[in-house]
Amino acid sequence: MQFTNSVIELMQKRMSVRTYSPRKIEQIAKEKLKQCLSERLSSPWGGTVRFELVELPKMNPKEKKRLGTYGFIQGAQNFIVGASEKSPYDLEHFGFVMEKVILCATELGLSTCWVGGTLKRNRFADQINTTDNETVPAISPIGYAAENRSKIDKLAKWAARSENRRPWETLFFESEFKRVLSREKAGKYEIPLEMIQIAPSASNRQPWRVIKEIDTNNFHFFILRKRSWYSRFLVWPDFPRMDLGIAACHFHLATQELGLDGSWKFMQSKISIPVQFQYIISWISN
Ligand SMILES: Cc1cc2nc3c(=O)[nH]c(=O)nc-3n(C[C@H](O)[C@H](O)[C@H](O)COP(=O)(O)O)c2cc1C
Repeated sequence: MQFTNSVIELMQKRMSVRTYSPRKIEQIAKEKLKQCLSERLSSPWGGTVRFELVELPKMNPKEKKRLGTYGFIQGAQNFIVGASEKSPYDLEHFGFVMEKVILCATELGLSTCWVGGTLKRNRFADQINTTDNETVPAISPIGYAAENRSKIDKLAKWAARSENRRPWETLFFESEFKRVLSREKAGKYEIPLEMIQIAPSASNRQPWRVIKEIDTNNFHFFILRKRSWYSRFLVWPDFPRMDLGIAACHFHLATQELGLDGSWKFMQSKISIPVQFQYIISWISN
């Protein structure tokens, strides 16, 4: 996927919007969006996802009523729905490629919101005729932001503390989790790491942690596993894996834009990992 604008600026601009204006998506933007959706998007993990644009005005009123986000999303007339083929790293792959689509929408002046929990998943899956081997990990409304946000939108943002991010020193480390990576030592990688920090994540949990090797520009990506009291009651996808895919996408696109060469590798990390961390992937500088 080619971006015309700085993708770093697009990542800085993107934010979740839950209240939409009735304004129709301009034809030219819709065509470009459909192009983005039809591209075969890649990630470090590989996988197969197909995206479709579900347009409410084209549906019959009965079907429209069945589709829902439990009131979390208001006024949206269009949704991006992705079907992911089941595979061992399907959620990481989905996170990575869907975030590319979200940034493509941002470039077109359209607002979005990752929705992985508060949706009638089967109803969206029916709309795009998923097979037994496909799941719909998340969707996104897409359109123009309304001038005023709905009460539930304000509540969702407040509950997730969406405007805040964890401080740098709790996310990025050098050689081991006990040693904080200074911005100075991050050097040219400060911006790619900041792009991880601003990435969207489910409930704004920001479960990603990154360790830089001491004498190289190699970065190891981990998930910090925390069990919430309510998780056992919910049958949601494993969000931290999707979140990590999104974060990797931000890091990848930022390094590309800054001309920092590297490639993604699975390696049995040399770093000793406390039990609550799960190693996922590494970025190795060329
Ligand atoms: C995988 C994933 C699932 C999400 N699911 C929901 C959801 O079900 N409902 C919702 O209102 N927001 C959802 N969000 C949006 C997050 O709450 C939001 O990204 C986070 O609070 C950060 O805010 P920002 O996107 O404005 O930066 C989800 C985000 C991600 C990445």
